[in-house]
This record gives sequence, C-alpha cells and structure tokens, in this order.
Amino acid sequence: MLDLPRLPVFGWSSFAGPRRSALPSILDRDDVLLTTSGRAAIALALRALDIGPGDRVLVPTYHCPTMIAPVVALGALPVFFPIDGSGAPALDLRSAAWDTPARAMIAAHYFGLPQPMANVRAFCDARGIALIEDCAHALFGRSGERDVGRWGDYAIASLTKFLPVVDGGCLAANAGREQVPALARQSRIVQLRSAANAIELGMKHRRLPGLNAPLRWIFAGVAASRGNRLAHSDEEARFGTEEHAEGAAAGSDPTRRWLADFLPAAKFTSCASAWTRLIARHAHRERIVALRRRNYALLASRVTGLPGVRAICAEPPADAAPYVFPLWVDEPERIYQRVRKEGIPVFRWDEVWPSCPDLEGDRGKLWSTHVFQLGCHQDLSLEDVERIASALAGILADADRRTSRSWSDLTPAFR
Ligand SMILES: Cc1ncc(COP(=O)(O)O)c(C=O)c1O
Repeated sequence: MLDLPRLPVFGWSSFAGPRRSALPSILDRDDVLLTTSGRAAIALALRALDIGPGDRVLVPTYHCPTMIAPVVALGALPVFFPIDGSGAPALDLRSAAWDTPARAMIAAHYFGLPQPMANVRAFCDARGIALIEDCAHALFGRSGERDVGRWGDYAIASLTKFLPVVDGGCLAANAGREQVPALARQSRIVQLRSAANAIELGMKHRRLPGLNAPLRWIFAGVAASRGNRLAHSDEEARFGTEEHAEGAAAGSDPTRRWLADFLPAAKFTSCASAWTRLIARHAHRERIVALRRRNYALLASRVTGLPGVRAICAEPPADAAPYVFPLWVDEPERIYQRVRKEGIPVFRWDEVWPSCPDLEGDRGKLWSTHVFQLGCHQDLSLEDVERIASALAGILADADRRTSRSWSDLTPAFR
C-alpha cells in the first residue's frame, strides 16, 4: 500500500524555490481575510450579503457538501443548477434554477482549472444576483482577463488544499462590496494544536530531516502523557483523534455532521490560526505552482490510453495551478474501493446534499460518482506520481481482464 499524503505536508522544502509565483494568487491581495476554512469564508460572504432565512442561493449539483452547508446553516435555501461537461454552470440548459429569484450564486473553479467567468458574471448582473466565486480549488490562476478571485462580488479559497496547514480559508471582496470586519482570534490552545498537527504531519511523512526523530519522540511523549497514542493516519494528525471520532458519531443524518461546522458561530467568525497566517505569508509559492503543474502533466501522460478512463482535461491550462487531476472513470464502483485501499490519494464527491435533484442534461450528478480527483500536490515527488500511476494502471488492467474473462465465459451460451 502507498503511504502518500493526500494533501500538502509541512517540511523544509515548503521554503524551497522562489518565494513569489508568476501566477497570481488570491493571497497576493492586501485586502484578503484569512478565515478558519473555505466553508467559513462562504458563510461570511453570505452573511455580508445579508442572506438569511427564506433567501435562495444558486449552488451547483457537483459539490462538496461543505459548499452547501453554509447556505443551509444561515437558513437560506439551496437551489441546485446544472453544470456542463467542462464544469461550468450550464446557462444554456433549460433549468428552473435559472428563473429562480435568487440572492446569490456560488460558482467554482473545479480542480483548480479556471473556468470562464465573464458569462456567469453577466448572468448575475442581469438578474441582480451576487456572485460568490469559489476558488477553493484555485488558490492561483487567471481566468480570462482577470485574476482568479476577481470575478465574484466575493471570492473564497481554501488553504488546506494548497499549503501545509490544517486550518484556513480566504475571503476577498470585489465590485465595491465591503470586506468583512476583522475576525476574532481563536483560543491559544486551538491555535497551538493547529501548529502541532501540521508539524506532526511533516514528521510522520519524514519531511523534516534532522528533526524527524526528536519530534517523533516528543509527540509520542505528549500523546502518552495524555493517555493517547501517536496519530496513525493523516486524518488523525489533521483533526485529532477525539474530534474525528465525534464527527463520525454525529448521527445518521449526514447534514447534521456538515452543519456542525457552523455551531457555535464562533467556528466561522474566527480568523485562521497563527500557524496558518505564518505559512500563508512565508511558504514559497512558485514551488507550489510548478510542482502541481508538473505532477498533473505526468499523471495525464501516464493515464492516457488506460482502459475505462479518460482525463477531463488532458493538460494543465497555462494559467492554472491544479488542485487535483480529475479522471473520468466509466465504471467507478468496480474500482473505487481498491483505489482507496491501495493508498492512492483520491477524493470523490459521492456524498451529495440530500435535496440535490436529477436535472436533465446535467453532468454534476454523474461527476459525483464518475470523477476521481487524484492528488497532484507539491509534496508528491515524481517517484510518488509514478507509483500512483502504476498502481492505478494495475487496478484498471485487472478490472479490464475480469471484464474480458466474464465476456468469454458468456460467449459459449450464445454459440
Ligand atoms: C469547491 C469547494 N468549495 C469550498 C470548500 C470548503 O473548503 P474548506 O474545506 O476549506 O472548508 C471545498 C472543500 O472541499 C470545496 O471543494
């Protein structure tokens, strides 16, 4: 089994290469507010727009539930809109969503591949709808003639997807909108835990040569003194064992678990931890952009031609620092569990908000099971990416062999 980080991890190399990137980032902006998460930034944007009970917000059928939870947490109603084969809002498709008197719309640059936004902006302007540009996957990039994050009334981003941090999001205001007032500090203990979890992840993946062994000793000592054990998985190191267990036990209604992120309100009205603010300022950005582009291109070249899959976008666009490499899989259920068991860093948005409808012509619901989001972050080496590609090739070849075998078993019956 591969033991690869699903998301960036802290190490000495976080400070390698040029500090600034040629590709613009929402973090370059002086007015950006660092929040506890991307979902918190969405909630703050909605609140700044004075959206509350009874208001309607347009949201995509292809989503992570964390995009919808802030809408519902504020009492507003999510109205789902269809997306097309490139992940853009399908404005040309007939859909009741487009005639809904909505107050706001959330549109995302999925996978870090910047979407054209001019037509979405024009649509919102024509109807008096505020646009929340979701750059959770696109901390860097340019979309048309603007930098990513300059099209929405508000733009949000998620820092854990791009930086070696375990908390953090961004919020920026455009188009004459007011920035949200300064946010409260999180408690010292929460901030300390955030730094410790990020460093523990770096140690676990041996990214801090010279310090890995003493840190292991220190973390094991602290864990033992608290009657715990050292975190075994990345999830435990990121979220801590207790919170993770609490989240998992939050009941069978999945919306309760997603909404818990907004209760109490202090969870989304605080700013990012000191560690996250430090890393956001000092992590070297060119390395993040260059290595993500390199890893994406390598994955694309290795999976092209494999049976039963196709790249959604075979080359990283010039103006993108991809979050993941999106791969369409013809028969996802045949291989998904094996892909996970092999330790391939993969995400899939198969948990859909319960009220999300089936819409004619929509690609979003199909994407939620058929699209595998494969990790291509900067802390995966070339060798790691080769291992991901060959593990995937093995799984697909095996699935293909089984299909051919079952066809040949069937053939005699037709003779
Ligand atoms: C498109 C999109 N928007 C928003 C979010 C929420 O970001 P965060 O996890 O930082 O709360 C996510 C999280 O996966 C996401 O994928």
